Amino acid sequence: MYQEIAVPEIPAVPERMNWFLESRFGLSFHWGLYSISGRGEWVRSAEQLSEAQYEHYFQTFSPAHGWAERWAELALSAGAHYCILTARHHDGFCLWDSKLTNFTSTRAPACGRDLIHEYTSAMRQAGLRVGLYYSLVDWHHPDCPAYGDRQHPLRHKPESRERDLKCNWAEYVTCFHGQIKELLTRYGKIDLLVLDFSYWHYSGATWRAVELLEMVRRLQPGIIVNDRLGNGALKECPPPGYAGDYDQTEQNIPRAPVTNAQGIGIPWEAWFTLNNSWGYCPNDLQYKTARDVVHSLVNTVSKNGNLLVNVSPDARGNIPGQATAILAETGRWLRTQAESIRGCGAAGLDKPEWGRWTRRGNVLYAHLLNPVIGHINLPGLRARVKNARVLATGCEATICDYWNPGVQTFDQPEDIFLALGKPTSWTHPMPDSIDTVVRMELTDESEYEELIRQYQKDFAQAISRVPLP
Ligand code: GLC
Repeated sequence: MYQEIAVPEIPAVPERMNWFLESRFGLSFHWGLYSISGRGEWVRSAEQLSEAQYEHYFQTFSPAHGWAERWAELALSAGAHYCILTARHHDGFCLWDSKLTNFTSTRAPACGRDLIHEYTSAMRQAGLRVGLYYSLVDWHHPDCPAYGDRQHPLRHKPESRERDLKCNWAEYVTCFHGQIKELLTRYGKIDLLVLDFSYWHYSGATWRAVELLEMVRRLQPGIIVNDRLGNGALKECPPPGYAGDYDQTEQNIPRAPVTNAQGIGIPWEAWFTLNNSWGYCPNDLQYKTARDVVHSLVNTVSKNGNLLVNVSPDARGNIPGQATAILAETGRWLRTQAESIRGCGAAGLDKPEWGRWTRRGNVLYAHLLNPVIGHINLPGLRARVKNARVLATGCEATICDYWNPGVQTFDQPEDIFLALGKPTSWTHPMPDSIDTVVRMELTDESEYEELIRQYQKDFAQAISRVPLP
């Protein structure tokens, strides 16, 4: 009997989300004064550095020329379709010419340049979608309380108590709304905004988040925004007015597609560091391999998610060689197999033992992530697949019955097999050792009977060759 393969329900998303869901793969860059320390973007908090101690970084920050073009090249070589740069991280340093603070790249004596201008121009020129990261937290601003805060660099200084008495939170909120307005009005079309992050009572109303999001959407009607103006707002039913467009997991791929409280799928993105650090850390050599990146990308897409990989340029804006090599290898894989990623999502099938499925409409992609011997079991797909092609080579693969029917039984009567060549009992080479993808077109009901007849014919032929005992 012909049975439809269940496709997980993905509710309609606003049109602005289309490019994001289509692309499935982006890069982020953590870059700022902290890159000089080589100890990550939290260095000021972790080492509880005073303003005076951090000032030296401000005085000496001196990016090389052409960094933005090189990053764009890197993103293209990786096969990424969008990029995100930390316009301001928690240290409060602005990579653009903000009129609302002096703590900017334009006023940094050894820099004197608007880096957001350089970045947005280069990315756009390369045809990449342009994203900006903006920290809601600011350790430099005098109106942000410090004493006893979870992470403020001055949290343990007794004099912070007095400092905090002068904090005017309303001033701070007005200032950061103003800075976001600057970013969204001066650099043309911004495709994506990442706001980071909410904790304790710093969430929702404290940020005047509804008003902020309304402004963001008014200034950039097509923009998409992550969901960190509160914690898990997008999962609430109904979501509050400050809910973003997509959920973001960090250093983690969930075991199943991300859903809201009612179990309905929501757009989401897994965000990973390429080594273990967001900001530049030359001592952190714990890099993922290209294989790890590709397998993570396949894993997220198989659960309807995107993958965002972070790169940590040094203080001059140079990309570490390891990162360039890993991403180039990822891009090499994508060049022949991207159609199994772009615009694809969950297949509605259980995870197979040899890898993962992705799917787009009636095209199913088998990602052979683990070595296989002999022909490859396709659970429950008997008479459901009409043809198969190996994406890396364009060569045909064979959908076949068990190679020795009638003598041994195969896994399940509703299963069928895939062989990368003939004879189908052989173990054939996998042309891509990272992930060999096989593209398979699914049948519809009218083709089902014909395929069953074909199997019966093959079976009759096969057993006629089995010698009598
Ligand atoms: C973590 C890091 C932060 C980084 C963010 C990216 O929260 O602490 O510095 O920007 O991840 O999501």
